[in-house]
Amino acid sequence: MTNSRLTPALLCGAFFLLLFTHQTTRAEELVVKLPPASLAQWYKPQNKRQVWLHTMFSLRRSMQALEEYVERGEPQRLAKWADDFATAYERLGEMVPEWRDELELEWSGRMRQAAVQGDMEGVRHALGKVRTSCRSCHNEYRTVTSILYRGPDFGAITIANGANEGLSHKELMAAMSRAVNQVKIFHEDQQPQRASEAGKELQRLLTLAADSCAQCHQESESRARIFSAASDRYQSDLLDGIAAQDGKQVDGNLGKIGAFICARCHTIHRPLAEFRAMLTKRAQR
Ligand code: HEC
Ligand code: HEC
Ligand code: HEC
Repeated sequence: MTNSRLTPALLCGAFFLLLFTHQTTRAEELVVKLPPASLAQWYKPQNKRQVWLHTMFSLRRSMQALEEYVERGEPQRLAKWADDFATAYERLGEMVPEWRDELELEWSGRMRQAAVQGDMEGVRHALGKVRTSCRSCHNEYRTVTSILYRGPDFGAITIANGANEGLSHKELMAAMSRAVNQVKIFHEDQQPQRASEAGKELQRLLTLAADSCAQCHQESESRARIFSAASDRYQSDLLDGIAAQDGKQVDGNLGKIGAFICARCHTIHRPLAEFRAMLTKRAQR
């Protein structure tokens, strides 16, 4: 019968379909390793300085000095720099014991010896060995660490909203987004009174946002990149446009606020802030 011959074919087809959908719906995964929690004590706010990062800068400098003098064939200063290097390098394992296994301590010791003996080939060889440890730890942890410990923390920002109410940064964002769309909706539906109230609320919230920059930025330049005479004008022109029920003026100025205030700040701050929040949440579990 045709039917019985068809069934295996159909089953077979269904099986391939399953395989196919299974493969296309499975998302690619990227595993991100978090640094050991003991690293936190070498960063602000637990520490007054970014100690880990400055130890890294010192490693790079002493390593470069060693390379420079080996290349120039001048062994006189090698011992001093190899000592600087080894001291800082050994300290890594004391600062974060969980990372001791990542280090080539034997090779940093051999490098110190070779440097004392003026053995330039020995120093060069040891440098190569030690450098593999820089690379492998960096591949796994460098980017994540800089985001986690040095990325700006917008969760710590509080916005004074009226007499006793404080908004989180996220709440401020949600309120601004609501006000932008209220302007759009009520203007489109020819309710100028409501659109105007929303426009004024947006202006008030944008002033709160502009004031909040100073919670991280000591200099006024960064704030001025986004909040300026021009951005004030988009806001007042928006209110004028609403009053005059001028669609072009409303859309044009909403567009400018969106592009030059919201999107410009988002390009700088949002992806990193959100990624940092994800990492922090995970690290605290
Ligand atoms: C500091 C500069 C900055 C400005 C200016 C800014 N944003 Fe944001 N926005 C952020 C950051 C950072 C985030 C990430 C979430 C957070 O606030 O912690 C964000 C997140 C958001 C979110 C998502 C909130 C959530 O719940 O995840 C919305 C919506 C938003 N912004 C809307 C706006 C609108 C609309 C404007 C302009 C009227 C604006 N933002 C202006 C920095 C800014
Ligand atoms: C056990 C892990 C580990 C080892 C080993 C290590 N590093 Fe690092 N390094 C880090 C981490 C984590 C960061 C990110 C620090 C940050 O951004 O705050 C970093 C960042 C750096 C930076 C800053 C990069 C930049 O431009 O922002 C330099 C320079 C550096 N390391 C040099 C070295 C050198 C040279 C070595 C080898 C001699 C080395 N590191 C070995 C973990 C390590
Ligand atoms: C939670 C802390 C934090 C807040 C709040 C914050 N920033 Fe930043 N911002 C930083 C850090 C950190 C950097 C990178 C280092 C630097 O430039 O200071 C940065 C960089 C910038 C830059 C690029 C560098 C420059 O100065 O040109 C701009 C522009 C900027 N921020 C604008 C703003 C504006 C506008 C606000 C307020 C609406 C704001 N930021 C709020 C932490 C913050």
